[in-house]
Amino acid sequence: MTESTTLPAEAPRDCDLCPRLVSYRSKNRLEHPGWFNGAVPSFGDENARLLIVGLAPGVTGANKTGRPFTGDWAGDLLYATIDKMGFSKGEYGANPNDGLQLKDAMITNAVRCVPPANKPVGAEVNSCREYLKARIASLPKLRIILCLGKVAHDSVCRAHKMKIRDHPFGHGVEYNAPNGLIIISSYHCSRYNTNTGRLTAEMFEDVFSRAKELMEAATA
Ligand code: URA
Repeated sequence: MTESTTLPAEAPRDCDLCPRLVSYRSKNRLEHPGWFNGAVPSFGDENARLLIVGLAPGVTGANKTGRPFTGDWAGDLLYATIDKMGFSKGEYGANPNDGLQLKDAMITNAVRCVPPANKPVGAEVNSCREYLKARIASLPKLRIILCLGKVAHDSVCRAHKMKIRDHPFGHGVEYNAPNGLIIISSYHCSRYNTNTGRLTAEMFEDVFSRAKELMEAATA
């Protein structure tokens, strides 16, 4: 099992655990009252065998639309890859009313509220881990956690009391968690990583294919 937690799987929209994120949200609400501007809930299938964990909502993407990766640059590659791998139904239209549904997969973020400059601090990742733990514990069929980037990777490992020293982040690394889940990680599908060629669409697809292979093997 993941370490126990007392919080529910979803943060309230007005979550007040992180003072810096609350004040950033207040500022965004004043400047952009039409945006979602709240803790962005996980999106996907409650019977998912695959949980994809991102970093945090982008200010003009998920923070604006209210759905993880939706409207974010990173979402274009993520949702295209999810579609290609057969984990979705419908078409991604970069807005939460596009009718897209995830099949056997769910997307969440290590930090549910948008951080300034896209960078949550350690205390924020630690506080939000309680929601991550609850989300992981809530999925009855979960087999695989696919972490996008080091922040998500480290938080998922810590949620399972796995030492980072013994389970370092890397593109394509795979680890067995004590509760039987398999953790697999990828470079984050951010604009920076894709523009610099650190992550290609092919590399990203390969990680998803491997996650799917592990998922089928774990369920067989
Ligand atoms: N949008 C998200 O919701 N999460 C990320 O990690 C990046 C963009």
